[in-house]
Amino acid sequence: EEAKLWGGRFTGGTDPLMELYNASLPYDKKMYKVDLEGTRVYTSALSKVGLITPEELSEIHRGLKVVEKEWETDSFVEKPGDEDIHTANERRLGEIIGKHIGGKVHTGRSRNDQVVTDMRLYVREKLDILCEILSNLIKVMTGRARQEIDVLMPGYTHLQRAQPIRWAHWLSMHATFLNDDLTRLKEIRSRVSRSPLGSGALAGHPYGIDREYIANELGFEGVIGNSLAAVSDRDFVIEVLFWGSLVGNHLAKLSEDLIIYSSAEFGFVQLADAYSTGSSLMPQKKNPDSLELLRGKSGRLFGHLAGFMMSAKATPSTYNKDLQEDKEPLFDNLLTVEHSLLIATGVFSTLKINSDKMKAALTMDMLATDLADYLVRKGVPFRETHHISGEAVALAEKENLGGIDRLTIEQYKNIDSRFEEDVLNVFDFEQSVERRTAIGGTAKSAVIAQLDFLDLQCN
Ligand code: ARG
Repeated sequence: EEAKLWGGRFTGGTDPLMELYNASLPYDKKMYKVDLEGTRVYTSALSKVGLITPEELSEIHRGLKVVEKEWETDSFVEKPGDEDIHTANERRLGEIIGKHIGGKVHTGRSRNDQVVTDMRLYVREKLDILCEILSNLIKVMTGRARQEIDVLMPGYTHLQRAQPIRWAHWLSMHATFLNDDLTRLKEIRSRVSRSPLGSGALAGHPYGIDREYIANELGFEGVIGNSLAAVSDRDFVIEVLFWGSLVGNHLAKLSEDLIIYSSAEFGFVQLADAYSTGSSLMPQKKNPDSLELLRGKSGRLFGHLAGFMMSAKATPSTYNKDLQEDKEPLFDNLLTVEHSLLIATGVFSTLKINSDKMKAALTMDMLATDLADYLVRKGVPFRETHHISGEAVALAEKENLGGIDRLTIEQYKNIDSRFEEDVLNVFDFEQSVERRTAIGGTAKSAVIAQLDFLDLQCN
């Protein structure tokens, strides 16, 4: 039986299933690099307070590099006593530099401040990668929107045709949601980037370690000002899990739209082969699996948030092993979000649109609001014009004319004497769209202003 780092007070062995149940090495070894980096800086801080000589320090730093190389080259040999990345790295370091020096590394440190330092460093790195990937997705969307600015399509509420909009306006909407996610990401990053190291197991450091030095060296924006909070706080994990869930929701929403738009009944968009799959039975099928997975994975992302919230709630102060349950959901969240954003980028880079089909789906009844607005411009109160326009819709429907533009001027005058010849100008989709020039609207100038704003944000 391999000696355990904490084995001094134990006489009995561990149930083999308990070993497995307890071990986090299978999933936390991906933090090997930040764990070694934390130890490098921590031991420098120990030498600053005289607990390690300069010679010992350079020997420790040499050993840490050897261990890192072993992980990098896949030659690190795990031993039975290695329950997590922290014990594994410390055990191996001791073997390389000798137990006498190796035994000083953990002075004043606990795995409690160590693990959460590793987590924060690891997450911060991932957030920076996600930031770039998300910015790039937004740029792909705004780039498309600029190129396809002239394309009109129906805008929907309740999935019923509502008013004509620009396709670019639809793109800009989803990019706006994602841009908010980008802002959130940056805010979360600064809360992630705070140092717990030097808090010990819970009560603080007994050798006057310089926590600000440690924080600085590890690139943190500051230290966490209470040692009990430092070792037990997993709010940053929950924030990242929430962030990922929300990104998942946004990707699910836009996927849902695109799945509908790609059906033969709509035919607005066509997904590239690279992001579609076929049917094992029906030769004609081309299915939007990428979009369905983007939609489906939002459930798993939210599940991770809900699951860890349940684990974290009502744990007593301060560190409890429950907190080890933060890792699997978090790592899966980060990977799933990264892949989802990359897939969405691929989808938007290769998607084909059918602007004729989009245009053909525009119907004259979608201009009923514009008809009401026509009379508003002649001084009629909107509540009244809404009713009058409704009458025109009803009459056109009753007469089976196929649209309010088919009513004659006489019929219009019969409905309301304030209609004049120029009412025919209302029945133009382009003009309807171009009237919506106020901030956030679907007029070309307003959409371009949105795209300019978005591009500015994600550069
Ligand atoms: N593997 C543990 C975790 O992930 C490290 C901290 C262990 N601390 C302890 N007191 N047992 O939470």
